[in-house]
Amino acid sequence: MSDLPAPHRLGVLISGRGSNLFAIASAIERGRLPQAKIAVVISNRPEAPGLARAREAGLAAVAIPAQGRSRSEQDEEIVACLRKYRVDLVCLAGYMRLLTPEFVAAFPQRILNIHPSLLPAFAGLHAQRQALEYGVTVSGCTVHFVDEHLDHGPIIVQRTVPVNAGDDERSLSARILEQEHGAYAEAIARVLSGRYRLAGRRYVEVEEAEP
Ligand code: GAR
Repeated sequence: MSDLPAPHRLGVLISGRGSNLFAIASAIERGRLPQAKIAVVISNRPEAPGLARAREAGLAAVAIPAQGRSRSEQDEEIVACLRKYRVDLVCLAGYMRLLTPEFVAAFPQRILNIHPSLLPAFAGLHAQRQALEYGVTVSGCTVHFVDEHLDHGPIIVQRTVPVNAGDDERSLSARILEQEHGAYAEAIARVLSGRYRLAGRRYVEVEEAEP
């Protein structure tokens, strides 16, 4: 992405409270992502608390609910909105909808997602509960490129979190969330630097930005 003029414009998609969105915003403010700017925040849920907070923070914030339309009609509108705000990189941050293949194709290798488990374990909903019920002793979070399958594309960053004996879903989720916030900024910085290539599913760092 480094061939694009800085700052790179991020479109952040949320469905809920938006703590990852604000972790990204704070990383930008603190100079950890100097080459990035949040161009627009989009939510499929107009009542998402993160959307109201985004507006209060002065960010462009748009609700694009399904409103009885098909998933592809809704995704078309979201893609049009991302284009209107000239978004370079789409960040799914607690966005709880599967994207249509057309949406994925509109931003090839330009959509990231964060998931609260060490993928490929525990994809889908309630990843932290799934991890506890399975009995793993280590879980964590994953930031990955989005493809047309659920929680599936090439992995950029993973961070581990130990599961403690006394953990319940709430305590484990909170400790994973802390790691998510750093992991997302790290993954965005890596992708914006352009200094990587994909070898099959493998994310490989390289010295010079790939053309
Ligand atoms: C985060 O834990 C994120 O990893 C998860 O939703 C939460 C959103 O929190 N996403 C998924 O489970 C996607 N499969 P936030 O709204 O505070 O960022």
